[in-house]
Amino acid sequence: MKERTRRKGKGYLDRLEKEFDLPYNWKVDSLKDFHRAMEQGLKGRKSSLPMLPSFLSRPTGREKGCYWTLDLGGTYVRVLDVALDGAGEFSIVFAKRFAIPRKVMHGSGEGLFDFLADCLLTFCREHPDHSNEERALAFTFSFPTDQHSVNSGTLICWTKGFTTAGVVGEDVVVLLQEGLKRKGLRKVRPVVLVNDTVATLMAGAYAQPTCDLGVILGTGTNACYPERIERIGKLPSEVKGGEMIINLEWGHFDGLKRNRFDAVVDNVSPNPGRQLLEKMVSAMYLGELVRLMLVDLTEAGILPSELTRGRERPFSLSSEEAARLAEGETDGWSSRFRLKKEEGQMLSHLSRLVFDRSARIAATAVAAILTWMDPALTSVHTVSVDGALFANNPFYQEEMRRTLREVLGAAGERVELLLLKDGSGIGSAVAAAVAERD
Ligand code: BGC
Repeated sequence: MKERTRRKGKGYLDRLEKEFDLPYNWKVDSLKDFHRAMEQGLKGRKSSLPMLPSFLSRPTGREKGCYWTLDLGGTYVRVLDVALDGAGEFSIVFAKRFAIPRKVMHGSGEGLFDFLADCLLTFCREHPDHSNEERALAFTFSFPTDQHSVNSGTLICWTKGFTTAGVVGEDVVVLLQEGLKRKGLRKVRPVVLVNDTVATLMAGAYAQPTCDLGVILGTGTNACYPERIERIGKLPSEVKGGEMIINLEWGHFDGLKRNRFDAVVDNVSPNPGRQLLEKMVSAMYLGELVRLMLVDLTEAGILPSELTRGRERPFSLSSEEAARLAEGETDGWSSRFRLKKEEGQMLSHLSRLVFDRSARIAATAVAAILTWMDPALTSVHTVSVDGALFANNPFYQEEMRRTLREVLGAAGERVELLLLKDGSGIGSAVAAAVAERD
C-alpha cells in the first residue's frame, strides 16, 4: 500500500469508526428513551415499542406432556415433537426442518399456509409414531402480531423480507386451521400462538426460575419479559392476575442514531421506515451493511475494486461471511483477491465495526429492560437467547457481556446470557402446556 493510500485509508477508517460508534453517554441516555417508549407502548399510546401482550405467564417448571410445535422463523420452518417431563427437563422426540422457498415468502397467504400444512404432513408421515391420536400444536409465529387471546392474533405487518399477500390484518391461527383443513390434517389442533421470543423465555424459565428475559438475535431480533398486569394499561379491565409476558417488538424501536449506510439499507428494504433497530442489529442486514462499506472503500480507491465484483446487488454478502471477516478470518479473501496484509486487516476491522455496534445495541436494550423490571438490579437475572447471530459468534457474545458490564456496572456481572439453541421450538411446547393449565 502506498503511503498516501495508507493515510487516506486511515482517515476513512477513523470516520467509519465514528459513524458506527455508540459512546457511553449515548448508551446511558438511550435507557431512558427505551423506558419512555416501553411506558407509552404499555398504555396503548403511540410508541415505536408496540409492547404486545402474549396472554401467557411464565411456567413453573412442573408442566408435563407431549406437544407438537410448528415454528415459522425468518429462514426455516421447524416442526418438533417435544416431551416435557414436569421437572424442568424436556426431550425432542422427533424434529424436522424445512427451508422456506422464496416464492412462499412472496406469494399468497394461501400458499404460505398450505406450505406450513405440507411441512406438518411430511412430519406426520415420517414420525415414528403413526397413531391417529389428536395432537395439541403450538404455533410459533415470529412476526408482530396483535394477540386477542392465547390462541388468536392478527398480523400487524411483515418483517424479515416477507411480503406474503393477504395475511396482514388476518388472524393467523384461523389461516393455519384453514390450511390444515385443506390438507386433510384433522389430528392436529392448534392450542397456542406464540412469538419466538416468548417461546425462548418459556424454554429458559422452564428450567431456570431466574430467567425473566427472552431474546432473539438471528435473521430478525426481538425480546420479551414478564410484566405486572397492573402496569399494562391497554389490557381490558377483566384481565386479572399477576403477570403477563410482553413481546416488545424491539426491532421497531426508532430512537437510535443512524448513519448513511443505515439509511441506504432502509431504502432498499421491503419495509422502509420500519424495523429501524432490527436493520442495525439483526443478521438479515449486517452483511449488507458490510457490503455497502466495502463499496464505499473500493470507490474511494482504498481497497481493490475486485473486492466488490459480483457483489453489486444489495444483500449479496451474507451475514455469515461478514461475521467470519469480523472474526479475523480473511485468508480466503486475501488469497482470492491477492490482498496485502493491511488490506485484509482493514476488511476485518470494518466488518467488526458493524457486528460490535449490533452487539452493543442489543446489550443496551437488554440493560434497558432489566432496569425497567428491577431498577436497583437487586435480583439475579437470566436472559435466554436464541438465534444464529448470537449462537455462532463467540466474539459477539463477548461484546454483549462487555457492554452489559459497562452500562450496568457491577450488577452487569450478575446478568447471565444463556444460549438456548432451539429454545423457540422447545419453549412453544412449554407455552402450550401453560396455556392448557391456565
Ligand atoms: C419480528 C419479531 C421476531 C423477531 C425474531 C422480527 O422481525 O418482528 O416478531 O420475534 O423478528 O425472529
